[in-house]
Amino acid sequence: MTTYQKGILDPLPPLARYLIFSLNQNADPAPALQALASETDGSETVVGLGLSVAQKLNARIEGLRPFPTIVNAGVDIPATPAAVWCWLRGDDRGDILQRSRRIQKLLAPAFTLVQVVDAFRYGPALDLTGYEDGTENPVDEEALTVTFVQGQGEGMDGSSFVAAQQWIHDLDYFESLPPETQDNVFGRRRSDNEEIEDAPLSAHVKRTAQEDFEPEAFVLRRSMPWADSWQEGFFFVAFGHSLYAYEAQLKRMAGLDDGIVDALFTYSRPVTGAYFWCPPVKDGKLDLRALGIGS
Ligand code: HEM
Repeated sequence: MTTYQKGILDPLPPLARYLIFSLNQNADPAPALQALASETDGSETVVGLGLSVAQKLNARIEGLRPFPTIVNAGVDIPATPAAVWCWLRGDDRGDILQRSRRIQKLLAPAFTLVQVVDAFRYGPALDLTGYEDGTENPVDEEALTVTFVQGQGEGMDGSSFVAAQQWIHDLDYFESLPPETQDNVFGRRRSDNEEIEDAPLSAHVKRTAQEDFEPEAFVLRRSMPWADSWQEGFFFVAFGHSLYAYEAQLKRMAGLDDGIVDALFTYSRPVTGAYFWCPPVKDGKLDLRALGIGS
């Protein structure tokens, strides 16, 4: 039976880890990917593959493209392409660590681990500023429609595209703002999560209001806070049946539509950004037929 990676739709786990791998040019990625696929059903670990992997395998994943670099109105949005992205979900740090080691071994020598980010759920699903994230996410049938490819045939149906972007916060700056200004950064009140109708146009939810795009731009957001010893922020993750919606939102946040920059940039900045294709699942394993691997 063909289906999707369940971890994409499941509620946020208490703990997570993102592993980001680069592709070694002197090795064939196919055996490593096959090994990973046969041990992964997309529930505990969600896997995304980058454009370079498809290219190396001479495969074409319709809709997979490079992440855009954007420099506009004083805002820098970098692109940091990568070959494999794994989202390890769980509630036990030891288990997550052992799983990381296993995946690293399965993917060697074709792939090298280049970044590890440890993340966690904060309260119900809060950003470290205390604002709740995910309120306007689609649910039930709509979530399935927004998130997964349909009608493109076996190997593609049930797959998804993901934008993964690490943001670093300046929480001291954010906390120095008056409470009303803080609420206006998001366009929602922290106290009760209600939308502020007369929030400034720079408010984050005004910039990204999904039904305000033409065509409408809905995504499924599954972001989590991250921290290491020195800094912290938000690991932004958005899934979709295409990359259109996320990219339209990002461009509007950066002021490309009307010159108005999202107020989020006053306290946070993205330091990575990459797109990946999340293959479907068949018989409990990742289905890599679209890449010409497996049958
Ligand atoms: C530091 C990074 C970010 C933080 C802390 C953040 C936080 C939030 C919060 C608190 C909300 C309001 C509640 C909700 O509906 O979820 C929200 C809404 C939203 N955000 Fe973000 N966000 C970030 C980056 C982004 C990026 C990069 C995008 C897309 C390019 C994005 C897209 C959206 C969308 C689509 C909504 C819902 C808008 C609506 O239809 O009402 N966010 N975000």
